[in-house]
Amino acid sequence: MRVCVVGSGYVGLVSGACFADFGHTVVCVDKDLRKIESLRAGRIPIFEPGLESLVETNAKAGRLSFTTDLGRSVAGADAVFIAVGTPSRRGDGHADLSYVYAAAREIAAAVTSFTVIVTKSTVPVGTGDEVERIIREVNPKADVAVASNPEFLREGAAIRDFKHPDRIVIGVSDDRAQAVLQEIYRPLYLNQAPIMVTGRRTAELIKYAANAFLATKITFINEIADLAERVGADVQQIARGIGLDNRIGSKFLHAGPGFGGSCFPKDTRALIKTASDYDAPLRIVESVLAVNENRKRAMAKKVAAPFGGNLRGKTVGVLGLTFKPNTDDMREAPAIPLITALQDMGATVRAFDPEGMEHSKLEMPEVAYCADAYECVAGADALVIVTEWEQFRALDLDRVKSEMNCPVLIDLRNIYRPETVRAKGFIYDSVGRSSADVTSPRIEDLAS
Ligand SMILES: NC(=O)c1ccc[n+]([C@@H]2O[C@H](COP(=O)([O-])OP(=O)(O)OC[C@H]3O[C@@H](n4cnc5c(N)ncnc54)[C@H](O)[C@@H]3O)[C@@H](O)[C@H]2O)c1
Repeated sequence: MRVCVVGSGYVGLVSGACFADFGHTVVCVDKDLRKIESLRAGRIPIFEPGLESLVETNAKAGRLSFTTDLGRSVAGADAVFIAVGTPSRRGDGHADLSYVYAAAREIAAAVTSFTVIVTKSTVPVGTGDEVERIIREVNPKADVAVASNPEFLREGAAIRDFKHPDRIVIGVSDDRAQAVLQEIYRPLYLNQAPIMVTGRRTAELIKYAANAFLATKITFINEIADLAERVGADVQQIARGIGLDNRIGSKFLHAGPGFGGSCFPKDTRALIKTASDYDAPLRIVESVLAVNENRKRAMAKKVAAPFGGNLRGKTVGVLGLTFKPNTDDMREAPAIPLITALQDMGATVRAFDPEGMEHSKLEMPEVAYCADAYECVAGADALVIVTEWEQFRALDLDRVKSEMNCPVLIDLRNIYRPETVRAKGFIYDSVGRSSADVTSPRIEDLAS
Protein backbone atom coordinates (compact mmCIF):
# COMPACT_ATOMS: atom_id res chain seq x y z
CA MET A 1 0.00 0.00 0.00
CA ARG A 2 1.11 3.55 -0.64
CA VAL A 3 0.65 5.57 2.50
CA CYS A 4 1.08 9.27 3.13
CA VAL A 5 1.26 10.60 6.69
CA VAL A 6 0.64 14.32 7.12
CA GLY A 7 2.33 15.62 10.26
CA SER A 8 5.60 14.00 11.35
CA GLY A 9 5.50 14.55 15.09
CA TYR A 10 5.28 11.95 17.87
CA VAL A 11 2.31 10.17 16.28
CA GLY A 12 2.93 10.76 12.58
CA LEU A 13 6.57 9.75 12.66
CA VAL A 14 6.02 6.63 14.73
CA SER A 15 3.00 5.59 12.62
CA GLY A 16 4.87 6.26 9.38
CA ALA A 17 7.95 4.32 10.48
CA CYS A 18 5.85 1.39 11.69
CA PHE A 19 3.71 1.29 8.52
CA ALA A 20 6.96 1.23 6.50
CA ASP A 21 8.22 -1.55 8.73
CA PHE A 22 5.07 -3.55 7.87
CA GLY A 23 6.23 -3.29 4.23
CA HIS A 24 4.15 -0.36 2.97
CA THR A 25 5.67 2.52 1.04
CA VAL A 26 5.35 5.57 3.24
CA VAL A 27 5.96 9.27 2.77
CA CYS A 28 5.94 11.39 5.92
CA VAL A 29 5.07 15.02 5.29
CA ASP A 30 5.60 17.98 7.55
CA LYS A 31 5.42 21.69 6.94
CA ASP A 32 8.32 22.20 9.32
CA LEU A 33 11.28 22.27 6.92
CA ARG A 34 13.87 21.88 9.70
CA LYS A 35 12.16 18.73 10.93
CA ILE A 36 12.12 17.24 7.45
CA GLU A 37 15.75 18.19 6.78
CA SER A 38 16.76 16.64 10.05
CA LEU A 39 14.84 13.42 9.30
CA ARG A 40 16.40 13.22 5.85
CA ALA A 41 19.81 13.52 7.46
CA GLY A 42 18.94 10.60 9.76
CA ARG A 43 18.44 12.77 12.85
CA ILE A 44 15.25 12.12 14.81
CA PRO A 45 13.78 15.39 16.10
CA ILE A 46 12.15 13.73 19.14
CA PHE A 47 13.33 11.28 21.77
CA GLU A 48 11.47 8.00 21.46
CA PRO A 49 13.23 4.71 22.28
CA GLY A 50 13.90 2.57 19.18
CA LEU A 51 12.65 5.15 16.70
CA GLU A 52 16.02 6.12 15.29
CA SER A 53 16.94 2.62 14.15
CA LEU A 54 13.42 1.92 12.87
CA VAL A 55 13.53 5.07 10.74
CA GLU A 56 17.04 4.33 9.55
CA THR A 57 16.29 0.74 8.51
CA ASN A 58 13.14 1.65 6.62
CA ALA A 59 14.59 4.76 5.00
CA LYS A 60 17.59 2.72 3.80
CA ALA A 61 15.24 0.06 2.42
CA GLY A 62 13.52 2.78 0.39
CA ARG A 63 10.16 2.33 2.12
CA LEU A 64 10.19 5.52 4.15
CA SER A 65 10.85 9.05 2.94
CA PHE A 66 10.32 12.59 4.18
CA THR A 67 9.14 15.70 2.41
CA THR A 68 7.46 19.06 2.79
CA ASP A 69 5.70 18.56 -0.54
CA LEU A 70 2.24 17.43 0.49
CA GLY A 71 0.76 17.60 -3.03
CA ARG A 72 3.18 15.13 -4.60
CA SER A 73 2.96 12.75 -1.65
CA VAL A 74 -0.83 12.64 -1.67
CA ALA A 75 -1.15 12.04 -5.41
CA GLY A 76 -1.39 8.30 -5.95
CA ALA A 77 -1.53 7.38 -2.25
CA ASP A 78 -4.01 4.68 -1.20
CA ALA A 79 -4.43 6.30 2.19
CA VAL A 80 -3.51 9.66 3.67
CA PHE A 81 -3.31 9.82 7.47
CA ILE A 82 -3.78 13.19 9.11
CA ALA A 83 -1.57 13.22 12.22
CA VAL A 84 -1.21 16.93 12.89
CA GLY A 85 -1.55 18.50 16.34
CA THR A 86 -4.91 19.29 17.95
CA PRO A 87 -3.88 21.46 20.92
CA SER A 88 -6.34 23.17 23.24
CA ARG A 89 -7.87 26.25 21.74
CA ARG A 90 -7.27 29.34 23.83
CA GLY A 91 -10.22 30.37 25.95
CA ASP A 92 -12.72 27.54 25.79
CA GLY A 93 -10.67 24.33 25.92
CA HIS A 94 -12.06 23.07 22.62
CA ALA A 95 -9.59 21.26 20.38
CA ASP A 96 -7.97 23.64 17.91
CA LEU A 97 -8.81 21.98 14.61
CA SER A 98 -7.21 24.56 12.36
CA TYR A 99 -4.25 22.26 11.54
CA VAL A 100 -6.57 19.37 10.70
CA TYR A 101 -8.77 21.49 8.46
CA ALA A 102 -5.79 23.12 6.75
CA ALA A 103 -4.34 19.68 6.04
CA ALA A 104 -7.72 18.49 4.72
CA ARG A 105 -7.85 21.44 2.30
CA GLU A 106 -4.36 20.74 0.98
CA ILE A 107 -5.04 17.01 0.66
CA ALA A 108 -8.33 17.62 -1.18
CA ALA A 109 -6.58 19.66 -3.81
CA ALA A 110 -3.99 16.94 -4.41
CA VAL A 111 -5.92 13.65 -4.62
CA THR A 112 -5.82 12.02 -8.05
CA SER A 113 -7.53 8.65 -7.63
CA PHE A 114 -9.55 6.83 -4.95
CA THR A 115 -7.97 7.81 -1.62
CA VAL A 116 -8.90 7.07 1.96
CA ILE A 117 -8.38 10.11 4.12
CA VAL A 118 -7.90 9.00 7.69
CA THR A 119 -7.94 11.18 10.75
CA LYS A 120 -5.41 9.79 13.22
CA SER A 121 -5.18 13.00 15.22
CA THR A 122 -7.42 13.04 18.29
CA VAL A 123 -10.42 15.04 17.13
CA PRO A 124 -13.84 15.84 18.61
CA VAL A 125 -16.93 14.06 17.42
CA GLY A 126 -18.06 15.40 14.08
CA THR A 127 -14.62 16.44 12.84
CA GLY A 128 -14.70 13.67 10.23
CA ASP A 129 -17.95 15.14 8.90
CA GLU A 130 -16.33 18.55 8.58
CA VAL A 131 -13.19 17.09 6.95
CA GLU A 132 -15.44 15.39 4.42
CA ARG A 133 -17.37 18.61 3.80
CA ILE A 134 -14.13 20.55 3.25
CA ILE A 135 -12.85 17.97 0.79
CA ARG A 136 -16.08 17.99 -1.21
CA GLU A 137 -16.04 21.78 -1.23
CA VAL A 138 -12.40 22.09 -2.38
CA ASN A 139 -12.52 19.24 -4.89
CA PRO A 140 -16.07 18.14 -5.70
CA LYS A 141 -14.82 15.48 -8.12
CA ALA A 142 -12.43 13.84 -5.65
CA ASP A 143 -13.02 10.12 -5.15
CA VAL A 144 -12.39 9.91 -1.41
CA ALA A 145 -13.67 8.24 1.73
CA VAL A 146 -13.05 9.85 5.11
CA ALA A 147 -12.31 7.53 8.01
CA SER A 148 -11.33 7.87 11.65
CA ASN A 149 -8.50 5.80 13.09
CA PRO A 150 -7.60 7.20 16.51
CA GLU A 151 -4.17 6.42 17.88
CA PHE A 152 -3.63 4.99 21.36
CA LEU A 153 0.17 4.81 21.53
CA ARG A 154 2.01 6.09 24.58
CA GLU A 155 5.13 8.19 24.26
CA GLY A 156 8.12 6.32 25.63
CA ALA A 157 6.68 2.98 24.48
CA ALA A 158 5.27 4.19 21.18
CA ILE A 159 6.70 1.59 18.82
CA ARG A 160 5.71 -1.31 21.00
CA ASP A 161 2.24 0.14 21.46
CA PHE A 162 1.85 0.72 17.73
CA LYS A 163 2.97 -2.78 16.83
CA HIS A 164 1.16 -4.55 19.63
CA PRO A 165 -1.98 -2.51 20.14
CA ASP A 166 -4.74 -3.69 22.45
CA ARG A 167 -7.10 -2.84 19.58
CA ILE A 168 -7.26 -0.93 16.34
CA VAL A 169 -10.33 1.25 15.98
CA ILE A 170 -11.50 2.14 12.51
CA GLY A 171 -14.47 4.43 12.06
CA VAL A 172 -15.66 4.02 8.52
CA SER A 173 -18.80 3.33 6.53
CA ASP A 174 -17.32 2.92 3.04
CA ASP A 175 -16.44 -0.69 2.11
CA ARG A 176 -13.55 0.27 -0.16
CA ALA A 177 -12.04 2.39 2.59
CA GLN A 178 -12.48 -0.40 5.12
CA ALA A 179 -10.67 -2.80 2.79
CA VAL A 180 -7.74 -0.38 2.37
CA LEU A 181 -7.40 0.15 6.12
CA GLN A 182 -7.66 -3.54 6.86
CA GLU A 183 -4.92 -4.18 4.33
CA ILE A 184 -2.70 -1.53 5.91
CA TYR A 185 -3.16 -3.06 9.36
CA ARG A 186 -3.12 -6.67 8.13
CA PRO A 187 0.31 -7.41 9.67
CA LEU A 188 -1.12 -6.54 13.08
CA TYR A 189 -4.25 -8.52 12.49
CA LEU A 190 -1.99 -11.51 11.91
CA ASN A 191 -0.60 -10.75 15.39
CA GLN A 192 -4.19 -11.03 16.61
CA ALA A 193 -4.69 -7.36 17.37
CA PRO A 194 -8.45 -6.95 17.24
CA ILE A 195 -9.66 -4.53 14.60
CA MET A 196 -12.87 -2.86 15.61
CA VAL A 197 -14.88 -1.28 12.84
CA THR A 198 -17.37 1.32 14.01
CA GLY A 199 -19.16 4.39 12.79
CA ARG A 200 -16.89 7.41 12.38
CA ARG A 201 -18.41 9.37 15.24
CA THR A 202 -18.17 6.38 17.54
CA ALA A 203 -14.47 5.95 16.71
CA GLU A 204 -13.86 9.63 17.44
CA LEU A 205 -15.58 9.35 20.80
CA ILE A 206 -13.85 6.08 21.74
CA LYS A 207 -10.53 7.91 21.83
CA TYR A 208 -11.76 10.65 24.16
CA ALA A 209 -13.64 8.20 26.35
CA ALA A 210 -10.47 6.10 26.71
CA ASN A 211 -8.30 9.05 27.70
CA ALA A 212 -10.93 10.48 30.04
CA PHE A 213 -11.28 7.11 31.75
CA LEU A 214 -7.53 6.74 32.24
CA ALA A 215 -7.29 10.31 33.55
CA THR A 216 -10.11 9.47 35.95
CA LYS A 217 -8.29 6.39 37.21
CA ILE A 218 -5.15 8.41 37.92
CA THR A 219 -7.09 11.15 39.65
CA PHE A 220 -9.06 8.65 41.70
CA ILE A 221 -5.92 7.04 43.10
CA ASN A 222 -4.39 10.48 43.71
CA GLU A 223 -7.33 11.45 45.89
CA ILE A 224 -7.18 8.10 47.67
CA ALA A 225 -3.48 8.87 48.26
CA ASP A 226 -4.40 12.12 49.98
CA LEU A 227 -6.82 10.28 52.21
CA ALA A 228 -4.26 7.54 52.89
CA GLU A 229 -1.85 10.19 54.13
CA ARG A 230 -4.40 11.57 56.56
CA VAL A 231 -5.37 8.19 57.97
CA GLY A 232 -1.95 6.54 58.02
CA ALA A 233 -2.56 4.04 55.19
CA ASP A 234 -0.34 3.13 52.24
CA VAL A 235 -1.68 4.00 48.79
CA GLN A 236 0.61 1.57 47.00
CA GLN A 237 -0.85 -1.33 48.91
CA ILE A 238 -4.32 0.04 48.30
CA ALA A 239 -3.58 0.26 44.55
CA ARG A 240 -2.39 -3.33 44.58
CA GLY A 241 -5.31 -4.40 46.70
CA ILE A 242 -7.84 -2.97 44.29
CA GLY A 243 -5.81 -3.53 41.10
CA LEU A 244 -5.68 -7.28 41.60
CA ASP A 245 -9.43 -7.23 41.12
CA ASN A 246 -9.78 -7.97 37.41
CA ARG A 247 -12.76 -5.69 37.16
CA ILE A 248 -10.49 -2.79 38.14
CA GLY A 249 -7.05 -3.71 36.78
CA SER A 250 -3.70 -2.56 38.11
CA LYS A 251 -2.69 -0.07 35.42
CA PHE A 252 -2.94 3.68 35.88
CA LEU A 253 -3.18 3.33 39.63
CA HIS A 254 0.12 5.01 40.49
CA ALA A 255 -0.37 7.97 42.78
CA GLY A 256 1.74 10.98 41.87
CA PRO A 257 1.80 14.69 41.21
CA GLY A 258 -1.16 14.66 38.79
CA PHE A 259 -1.39 13.83 35.12
CA GLY A 260 0.10 16.01 32.42
CA GLY A 261 1.44 15.51 28.95
CA SER A 262 0.37 16.16 25.42
CA CYS A 263 -2.94 14.27 25.60
CA PHE A 264 -4.83 13.86 28.88
CA PRO A 265 -5.19 17.53 29.87
CA LYS A 266 -6.16 18.77 26.41
CA ASP A 267 -8.34 15.77 25.62
CA THR A 268 -10.31 15.96 28.86
CA ARG A 269 -10.80 19.69 28.27
CA ALA A 270 -12.00 19.08 24.70
CA LEU A 271 -14.34 16.28 25.80
CA ILE A 272 -15.89 18.49 28.47
CA LYS A 273 -16.44 21.20 25.85
CA THR A 274 -18.05 18.77 23.40
CA ALA A 275 -20.27 17.36 26.15
CA SER A 276 -21.41 20.80 27.18
CA ASP A 277 -22.06 21.79 23.54
CA TYR A 278 -24.30 18.73 23.20
CA ASP A 279 -26.02 19.36 26.54
CA ALA A 280 -24.75 16.13 28.05
CA PRO A 281 -22.32 17.41 30.69
CA LEU A 282 -19.69 14.99 31.96
CA ARG A 283 -19.52 15.91 35.65
CA ILE A 284 -17.03 13.20 36.51
CA VAL A 285 -14.55 14.35 33.87
CA GLU A 286 -15.07 17.97 34.90
CA SER A 287 -14.11 17.05 38.48
CA VAL A 288 -11.12 15.05 37.29
CA LEU A 289 -9.76 18.03 35.41
CA ALA A 290 -10.36 20.46 38.28
CA VAL A 291 -8.86 18.14 40.91
CA ASN A 292 -5.83 17.50 38.73
CA GLU A 293 -5.19 21.19 38.06
CA ASN A 294 -5.16 21.98 41.78
CA ARG A 295 -2.95 19.04 42.57
CA LYS A 296 0.06 20.08 40.51
CA ARG A 297 0.67 23.30 42.39
CA ALA A 298 -0.36 21.72 45.69
CA MET A 299 2.65 19.42 45.42
CA ALA A 300 4.82 22.46 46.18
CA LYS A 301 3.29 22.52 49.66
CA LYS A 302 4.71 19.05 50.28
CA VAL A 303 8.17 20.43 49.49
CA ALA A 304 7.66 23.41 51.77
CA ALA A 305 6.19 21.42 54.68
CA PRO A 306 9.50 20.41 56.30
CA PHE A 307 10.46 24.12 56.29
CA GLY A 308 7.31 25.20 58.08
CA GLY A 309 5.77 26.15 54.75
CA ASN A 310 8.42 28.75 53.98
CA LEU A 311 10.76 28.24 51.02
CA ARG A 312 12.11 31.78 50.80
CA GLY A 313 15.85 31.67 50.24
CA LYS A 314 15.87 27.88 49.88
CA THR A 315 17.30 25.98 46.94
CA VAL A 316 15.25 23.11 45.57
CA GLY A 317 16.68 20.48 43.23
CA VAL A 318 14.16 18.94 40.81
CA LEU A 319 14.86 15.58 39.20
CA GLY A 320 12.75 14.88 36.14
CA LEU A 321 10.97 17.50 34.07
CA THR A 322 9.20 15.63 31.26
CA PHE A 323 5.63 14.50 31.91
CA LYS A 324 6.79 10.88 32.01
CA PRO A 325 10.07 8.99 31.54
CA ASN A 326 11.49 8.05 28.14
CA THR A 327 10.24 11.09 26.29
CA ASP A 328 11.49 14.61 25.76
CA ASP A 329 7.93 15.91 25.72
CA MET A 330 7.35 18.79 28.13
CA ARG A 331 3.78 19.59 27.07
CA GLU A 332 1.74 20.28 30.21
CA ALA A 333 4.31 18.46 32.35
CA PRO A 334 3.43 18.60 36.08
CA ALA A 335 6.98 19.85 36.69
CA ILE A 336 6.07 23.21 35.14
CA PRO A 337 3.33 24.34 37.59
CA LEU A 338 5.27 22.73 40.44
CA ILE A 339 8.44 24.68 39.66
CA THR A 340 6.47 27.88 39.14
CA ALA A 341 4.85 27.37 42.55
CA LEU A 342 8.23 26.73 44.20
CA GLN A 343 9.59 29.91 42.64
CA ASP A 344 6.49 31.84 43.70
CA MET A 345 7.22 30.66 47.24
CA GLY A 346 10.69 32.20 47.01
CA ALA A 347 12.79 29.13 46.19
CA THR A 348 15.64 28.95 43.71
CA VAL A 349 15.24 25.91 41.48
CA ARG A 350 17.94 23.68 40.01
CA ALA A 351 16.90 20.86 37.71
CA PHE A 352 18.06 17.88 35.72
CA ASP A 353 16.26 15.73 33.19
CA PRO A 354 17.90 13.20 30.85
CA GLU A 355 15.98 14.33 27.73
CA GLY A 356 13.68 17.22 28.53
CA MET A 357 16.04 20.10 29.28
CA GLU A 358 16.24 21.51 25.76
CA HIS A 359 12.48 22.09 25.67
CA SER A 360 12.36 23.02 29.33
CA LYS A 361 14.94 25.79 28.90
CA LEU A 362 12.58 27.52 26.48
CA GLU A 363 9.62 27.10 28.82
CA MET A 364 11.40 27.89 32.10
CA PRO A 365 14.59 29.87 31.45
CA GLU A 366 14.94 30.96 35.08
CA VAL A 367 15.81 27.46 36.29
CA ALA A 368 19.49 26.46 36.78
CA TYR A 369 19.94 23.38 34.57
CA CYS A 370 22.46 20.78 35.69
CA ALA A 371 24.55 18.14 33.95
CA ASP A 372 23.39 15.23 36.11
CA ALA A 373 21.46 14.27 39.23
CA TYR A 374 24.38 14.85 41.61
CA GLU A 375 25.11 18.33 40.28
CA CYS A 376 21.40 19.04 40.72
CA VAL A 377 21.42 18.15 44.42
CA ALA A 378 24.63 20.06 45.22
CA GLY A 379 23.85 22.64 47.89
CA ALA A 380 20.11 22.00 47.71
CA ASP A 381 17.89 22.33 50.76
CA ALA A 382 15.36 19.90 49.28
CA LEU A 383 15.27 17.44 46.43
CA VAL A 384 12.05 16.62 44.57
CA ILE A 385 11.70 13.63 42.26
CA VAL A 386 9.04 14.58 39.73
CA THR A 387 9.56 12.09 36.89
CA GLU A 388 10.53 8.48 37.52
CA TRP A 389 13.36 8.10 35.01
CA GLU A 390 15.10 4.75 35.48
CA GLN A 391 18.38 6.46 36.46
CA PHE A 392 16.72 8.16 39.47
CA ARG A 393 15.63 4.86 40.97
CA ALA A 394 19.00 3.90 42.36
CA LEU A 395 20.69 7.13 43.35
CA ASP A 396 23.64 6.84 45.73
CA LEU A 397 21.71 8.26 48.67
CA ASP A 398 24.81 8.69 50.85
CA ARG A 399 26.35 10.82 48.12
CA VAL A 400 23.11 12.72 47.62
CA LYS A 401 22.94 13.46 51.34
CA SER A 402 26.54 14.60 51.51
CA GLU A 403 26.05 16.94 48.54
CA MET A 404 22.88 18.51 49.93
CA ASN A 405 22.69 21.42 52.28
CA CYS A 406 19.76 19.80 54.05
CA PRO A 407 18.67 16.19 53.46
CA VAL A 408 15.02 16.63 52.48
CA LEU A 409 13.77 14.24 49.80
CA ILE A 410 10.26 14.57 48.38
CA ASP A 411 9.54 11.59 46.17
CA LEU A 412 6.46 12.38 44.11
CA ARG A 413 6.62 9.03 42.28
CA ASN A 414 7.06 6.74 45.29
CA ILE A 415 10.19 5.17 43.84
CA TYR A 416 12.00 4.82 47.18
CA ARG A 417 11.08 2.90 50.29
CA PRO A 418 10.38 5.30 53.12
CA GLU A 419 12.18 3.14 55.73
CA THR A 420 15.38 2.94 53.65
CA VAL A 421 15.59 6.64 52.94
CA ARG A 422 14.71 7.66 56.47
CA ALA A 423 17.24 5.23 57.86
CA LYS A 424 19.87 7.17 55.95
CA GLY A 425 18.87 10.31 57.81
CA PHE A 426 16.69 11.98 55.23
CA ILE A 427 13.49 13.82 55.92
CA TYR A 428 11.42 11.92 53.40
CA ASP A 429 7.93 12.38 52.07
CA SER A 430 6.18 10.68 49.19
CA VAL A 431 2.61 10.41 47.92
CA GLY A 432 0.00 8.58 49.94
CA ARG A 433 2.47 6.75 52.16
CA SER A 434 3.14 9.23 54.93
CA SER A 435 1.72 6.89 57.51
CA ALA A 436 1.67 8.34 60.95
CA ASP A 437 3.43 5.31 62.38
CA VAL A 438 6.65 5.85 60.41
CA THR A 439 8.95 8.28 62.15
CA SER A 440 10.98 10.72 60.17
CA PRO A 441 13.59 13.11 61.58
CA ARG A 442 12.58 16.75 61.58
CA ILE A 443 14.65 19.74 60.46
CA GLU A 444 15.06 20.73 64.16
CA ASP A 445 16.39 17.23 64.96
CA LEU A 446 18.94 17.47 62.17
CA ALA A 447 20.14 20.88 63.31
CA SER A 448 20.74 19.69 66.87
N1 LIG B 1 1.73 12.35 21.41
C1 LIG B 1 1.01 11.31 21.78
O1 LIG B 1 1.39 10.53 22.66
C2 LIG B 1 -0.32 11.03 21.11
C3 LIG B 1 -0.94 9.79 21.31
C4 LIG B 1 -2.16 9.54 20.67
C5 LIG B 1 -2.76 10.53 19.90
N2 LIG B 1 -2.14 11.75 19.75
C6 LIG B 1 -2.77 12.75 18.91
O2 LIG B 1 -2.09 12.78 17.66
C7 LIG B 1 -2.07 14.12 17.14
C8 LIG B 1 -0.64 14.54 16.87
O3 LIG B 1 0.04 14.60 18.10
P1 LIG B 1 1.63 14.70 18.18
O4 LIG B 1 2.00 14.57 19.59
O5 LIG B 1 2.24 13.80 17.17
O6 LIG B 1 1.82 16.23 17.68
P2 LIG B 1 3.17 16.95 17.25
O7 LIG B 1 2.99 18.38 17.59
O8 LIG B 1 4.34 16.22 17.78
O9 LIG B 1 3.21 16.79 15.66
C9 LIG B 1 2.34 17.43 14.78
C10 LIG B 1 3.12 17.74 13.52
O10 LIG B 1 2.21 18.16 12.50
C11 LIG B 1 2.86 19.13 11.70
N3 LIG B 1 1.84 19.84 10.91
C12 LIG B 1 0.88 20.68 11.35
N4 LIG B 1 0.12 21.10 10.31
C13 LIG B 1 0.61 20.50 9.20
C14 LIG B 1 0.25 20.51 7.82
N5 LIG B 1 -0.80 21.22 7.36
N6 LIG B 1 0.98 19.79 6.96
C15 LIG B 1 2.02 19.06 7.39
N7 LIG B 1 2.41 18.99 8.68
C16 LIG B 1 1.71 19.70 9.57
C17 LIG B 1 3.61 19.97 12.72
O11 LIG B 1 4.66 20.70 12.11
C18 LIG B 1 4.13 18.87 13.66
O12 LIG B 1 5.41 18.41 13.28
C19 LIG B 1 -2.80 14.96 18.18
O13 LIG B 1 -4.15 15.08 17.81
C20 LIG B 1 -2.67 14.16 19.45
O14 LIG B 1 -3.71 14.42 20.35
C21 LIG B 1 -0.93 12.00 20.33
